[in-house]
Amino acid sequence: MPDPATPEATAEWDPTTVVARFEQVRSHTELLAAPLSPEDQTVQSMPDVSPTKWHRAHVTWFFETFLLAEHEEGFTPFQEQYWFLFNSYYESLGPRYARPDRGLVTRPGAHEVGDYRRNVDARVRELVERLDDGALGKLAPVLELGFHHEQQHQELLLMDIKHVLSRNPLQPSYAGGRRAPGEPDRLGWLEVEGGLVEVGHGGDGFCFDNELPRHRQWLEPYRIADRLVTNGEWLAFMADGGYERPQLWLSEGWARVQAEGWRAPFYWSEHDGVWLEHTLHGTWPVDPASPATHVSFFEADAYATWAGKRLPTEAEWEHAAVVDGQRDPGAPTTSGANLADLESFHPRAAAAPSAGGPRLRQLYGDCWEWTSSAYHPYPGFRAPDGAIGEYNGKFMSNQMVLRGGCALTPPDHARLTYRNFFPHAARWAMSGVRLADGGAPVRQEEHS
Ligand SMILES: [Fe+2]
Repeated sequence: MPDPATPEATAEWDPTTVVARFEQVRSHTELLAAPLSPEDQTVQSMPDVSPTKWHRAHVTWFFETFLLAEHEEGFTPFQEQYWFLFNSYYESLGPRYARPDRGLVTRPGAHEVGDYRRNVDARVRELVERLDDGALGKLAPVLELGFHHEQQHQELLLMDIKHVLSRNPLQPSYAGGRRAPGEPDRLGWLEVEGGLVEVGHGGDGFCFDNELPRHRQWLEPYRIADRLVTNGEWLAFMADGGYERPQLWLSEGWARVQAEGWRAPFYWSEHDGVWLEHTLHGTWPVDPASPATHVSFFEADAYATWAGKRLPTEAEWEHAAVVDGQRDPGAPTTSGANLADLESFHPRAAAAPSAGGPRLRQLYGDCWEWTSSAYHPYPGFRAPDGAIGEYNGKFMSNQMVLRGGCALTPPDHARLTYRNFFPHAARWAMSGVRLADGGAPVRQEEHS
């Protein structure tokens, strides 16, 4: 998963506001970890998954490294070894502990990570309150980056614990119980004219470096689906031999199907002829109306091929959101987006289309949406100097862009121009599929 860098901060930068924001972000991480025992927080169930306590410690290390070490008078680390243990991937900061072995770090325990967090919290508060507004303004970019970085890890913490709990034979629930199934509905389409459009972050407010610079792109006319592909539609794909027909798949994807035995989305399992889905609420029969989720780019592409459609490019996705009046995930027109504040912890069925409202449903929240765009630098992109420049830029190869946020994304972390990215075969992220067509040749007959 990503890590960013920031342009100028623009929020209010008086100490009271900054401390309040800091405390809100920091306490929310602890709230998410609260239902988890120290044992839950220690397990690493696969190399891509990090233990909960590692997330709690790493985001703390981020503030300690990029804020306190640079600006605290007489700085000494809380624990010298933590710099080695909790550095994620910053090569220029020295050696670090191997990612796949994070589950072997039984000490420090979850409780000691709490001590680390409280120590760094107190020191950050003290630093911020000691500075006048001018000096504080200079720290604004790294503080704001720290807030958004921690929010990224809040989402990852939930995605990761979902996998950890999925491997437990008791199939425990993180929160809540079974939800009522939704009602399947008909797929609609938004026609978009295209032309010369602008994409990328513009104006005020935070963004990661990879959303810049804003630039022009040419779009042929296209159509984009008004909701995500559902489980019911995915079952039809499976029933039609979707995982058995190599002609639907990119070559590398087909190799994965065979090597890893893919025959359904990542968290599905078949028992006595019934497909079940593991969720953060436990394991339940698949709801046909809910969006299909935890599918890789390869699966998303194969589904689109089967359906006689394609995935949207990231510029098409972004421009369609603008055309549909959904620039802001927090605006009244898009309110109700299934982001983390609703605590649904899972994608849910699309609401019925509303007369006069936005056409595109589930645009923000529910599932990160795979696009057909490779994660490459925008024209004129330049990574910031120093270790922080490693946040995003160095991952710009062999990954695909996803847009829109998911049910685990903090609401003020979703953004029109946000570029998430994962490798083509990644399935543990809460990813789903929105179809598009037009503007490019269609490969198969239509199924939807
Ligand atoms: Fe990180």
